[in-house]
Amino acid sequence: MFGKKNDPMTKFDVPPAMDANEAARIAFDHDLPLSKHHFVEGEHPVVRIEHLMKTFDGETQVLRDVNLNVWNGEIVVVLGPSGSGKSTMLRCINLLETPTAGHILIDDGEITGKSSKEVGIIRRDLGMVFQSFNLFPHLTAKENVMIGQTKVLKKSKEEAEAEAIKQLTAVGLADRADYKPPQLSGGQQQRVAIARAVAMHPKVLLFDEPTSALDPELVRDVLGVMRELALHGDMTMIVVTHEMGFARDVGDRVVFMEGGVVVEQGLPEDVFDNPQHERTKQFLGSIK
Ligand SMILES: Nc1ncnc2c1ncn2[C@@H]1O[C@H](COP(=O)(O)OP(=O)(O)O)[C@@H](O)[C@H]1O
Ligand SMILES: [Mg+2]
Repeated sequence: MFGKKNDPMTKFDVPPAMDANEAARIAFDHDLPLSKHHFVEGEHPVVRIEHLMKTFDGETQVLRDVNLNVWNGEIVVVLGPSGSGKSTMLRCINLLETPTAGHILIDDGEITGKSSKEVGIIRRDLGMVFQSFNLFPHLTAKENVMIGQTKVLKKSKEEAEAEAIKQLTAVGLADRADYKPPQLSGGQQQRVAIARAVAMHPKVLLFDEPTSALDPELVRDVLGVMRELALHGDMTMIVVTHEMGFARDVGDRVVFMEGGVVVEQGLPEDVFDNPQHERTKQFLGSIK
C-alpha cells in the first residue's frame, strides 16, 4: 500500500495497448509452454490483460501490473492468498470495477475507458459466478436463468425458457426448475447461478471462489458441474478457487497471484510439483 492522491506513484505511465497481431504472437510464444490449451498457429487470445493496475481511493494499490492472456476454450485457474487481488482482477475484467490504468481487451477490442452504455454491452460477453450466488430470491430457478436472456439479450420468453431448462438439466436441476432459492441448498443455488451464467453464452466465464461459501458435502456437486462444463463445454473459464484438486485436474494453466501481480504461472503439474518462486512454494506449502 503506497502512494497518496497527487503522488507521482499513482500516476501510472502505461504504454498503449499492443498491436493485436504482435500481441498475439508474443502471447503465443509466452503461453505455449505454460498451458495445455491446444494452440493453433496465428490464433489470438480472447482476453488480453496488459499492465492492469487498480488503486482504491488513490491510496491502496491492489493490482500493480497484471499481465495475462487467456485463450479460447482455455481453463485458467487463479490461486493466491487472501488479499492478493484475485477478485479485483476478475471484477476489472467484467468492469464491475474500473481499472485505474492498463488495458483489458476482449477479442482484441479494448474494454477500458468506455461509457456506461458501452459497458452494459461489453458485460454480456463476460459471465460471472460469485461466491454468494446472487440469485433473485423471489424468482424460481427457471426464472432466474431466464431473466438475463429476456431483459439483456431480448430473447423471447419461449426461447429463454427452453434455454433455461436445457442449462438447468445440464447442472442436474431439471426437477428443481420451479423452486425458489430459499427452497434450495447452497450447492443447488450455486448450480442455478452457473446455469444462469452459461445460458447467456458469454465469451468468458469468470468464477470467484464459487465453492467457498458451501458446506463441504455440497462442494463436490458444484465442482462436478464446473468440471463437466470445462471438459465437455466449449467455455473459456477463469476460475479463482482454493480447490487444489480441481486446479490440478481441470486447469489448463495455473496462475499464482500475490501482492497484485502474477508471480508465477504454468502447467498445473509444474506449478504444484515444482514451483519456481519462493512465495508460490510458501503458499502451496501452507495449504497442503
Ligand atoms: N472497494 C474496495 N475499496 C478498498 N479496498 C478494496 C476494495 N476492494 C478490495 N480492496 C482491497 O484490495 C485488496 C485485494 O482484495 P481482493 O481483490 O478481494 O483480494 P482476493 O480476492 O485475492 O482475496 C484487499 O486488501 C482489499 O481490502
Ligand atoms: Mg476474493
